[in-house]
Amino acid sequence: MRRKLIAGNWKMNGLKAQAKELASAIFAKAGADMPFDMLVCPPMNVLGFVSELPHAGVFVGAQDIAETIKPNGAFTGDVSAEMVKDLGATWTLVGHSERRQYHGETNALVKQKAINAINTGLTVVICIGETLAEREAGCAVDVVCRQTRECVPDEATAENCVIAYEPVWAIGTGKVPTTQDVAEIHAAVRNELVKVLGAEKADQMRILYGGSVKPENAKELLNVDNVDGALIGGASLKADSFFAIAEAVR
Ligand code: PGA
Repeated sequence: MRRKLIAGNWKMNGLKAQAKELASAIFAKAGADMPFDMLVCPPMNVLGFVSELPHAGVFVGAQDIAETIKPNGAFTGDVSAEMVKDLGATWTLVGHSERRQYHGETNALVKQKAINAINTGLTVVICIGETLAEREAGCAVDVVCRQTRECVPDEATAENCVIAYEPVWAIGTGKVPTTQDVAEIHAAVRNELVKVLGAEKADQMRILYGGSVKPENAKELLNVDNVDGALIGGASLKADSFFAIAEAVR
């Protein structure tokens, strides 16, 4: 039985005061007895500060890490997996479509980051998803299978790795795929994971859905076969809507 994961990606939102308010509200509502896992990914400027607040029952993660495996060195502007861990985070996202779109991140680079995360002891959420053009061209399944094949490293297990399927056209747009489309993609990704990692690891690995998840559509999406949780952007910026989505798991 895969335990559901409710993950919040704050993106580039959160000055210290706002981050403190949001994190405190989330951590106050959370508890170790929740029937699901919860993760928040604040931006780097407040990552250390958020992870130092008491956060029983909630994991804290980064939104990205450096490509280099080196823990430190001449990489201006980069933050290594080691540094993220030193800030108190235990998870990181990699390969979010905004990183792929605005920073030209390729599958090979995303895989390297995933390896760095795992080798440093962080749990990694590898994000994949097709663009609107790819969906309209009928190749969404091919795209996500290829991303799975090319981004998921051999060292991935259900304990150190989670996949997040986020159709690019659904992120921040209010549009969501049909539950049939979500089911089709999640089944295809699971099948690809079997080829990459073997049946046992593939069966245990969580595959999240992300893209315009809201309290109103959470129950429907979280009940689709092979959907093991949600990666939430906009609706994770308010403790109430974040928890209203999480409540759909109960
Ligand atoms: P959204 O973002 O929930 O605002 O659509 C999801 C994401 O990008 O992770």
